[in-house]
Amino acid sequence: MSKNRDDSPLPRLQWPRYGIDAPAFPAVLGAVGTACCLAAGRRRRPGRNAMATAGAVMLANTGVYLHTTLSGKLRIWRRQLDQAGLKGDEQLLDLGCGRGAVLIEAAKRLPTGRAVGVDLWSAQDQNGNRPETTLANAAAAGVADRVDVHTADMTALPFADGSFDVVTSALAIHNIPSFEGRYRAVDEAMRVLRPGGQLLVADFWPMARKYAAHLGQGTLRGLGPGYWYGGPWLGVTLLRAVKER
Ligand SMILES: C[S@@+](CC[C@H](N)C(=O)[O-])C[C@H]1O[C@@H](n2cnc3c(N)ncnc32)[C@H](O)[C@@H]1O
Repeated sequence: MSKNRDDSPLPRLQWPRYGIDAPAFPAVLGAVGTACCLAAGRRRRPGRNAMATAGAVMLANTGVYLHTTLSGKLRIWRRQLDQAGLKGDEQLLDLGCGRGAVLIEAAKRLPTGRAVGVDLWSAQDQNGNRPETTLANAAAAGVADRVDVHTADMTALPFADGSFDVVTSALAIHNIPSFEGRYRAVDEAMRVLRPGGQLLVADFWPMARKYAAHLGQGTLRGLGPGYWYGGPWLGVTLLRAVKER
């Protein structure tokens, strides 16, 4: 059995399981959609067509959400990391790594580098969110030797200036309640990047636009239907910025 840094046993998994982002959201949407469809099925109920349509739309949104969180985001991050020009020896930091979807995909591309994740392990933001789960996922993916996780707040990172070649973050910065806190996280990401290092942040499109405006630089690109949390109104945009040399 693989071990974590404290030498306590980690659960052994056959393959990584990355869980569901904000699990209460699809649970409520799916439950309300099902209730609408059932209610519309009762005869002679006024407005049954409208109720059936609303129920079907909510169930379809739930399906799109689950597809994104279980597979769409992984496929998209694989492509982004493949296009990031990694040499394989980089030091990479993933902010709000959760169960490790992006952290571990990055580690697979860093045979002589290191992928470090920080998180506060909120189970509201991702089910089963614990450092042990992330380390067990890294072991299942065969990259435990190059993955570290830290319990840390991304608004106050415990790393020296310029320690990382790449900083990534997937759907995590918007979880900080205030814009002031979100901007602090973006500033911290730039602080720990080395000059010339790159920042890759995926977040809901209005947030990503505000982070770019705050930084005063960066390119923005919509990541498409594979990263819709239910529909285009909760679509995700990638901000890519490079720290000045
Ligand atoms: C929706 S999950 C995304 C997890 C992972 N990046 C992924 O895409 O699968 C958001 C993550 O951000 C973490 N998080 C929220 N606020 C944070 C903070 N201030 N510092 C570090 N992590 C935070 C949560 O605990 C959660 O793991």
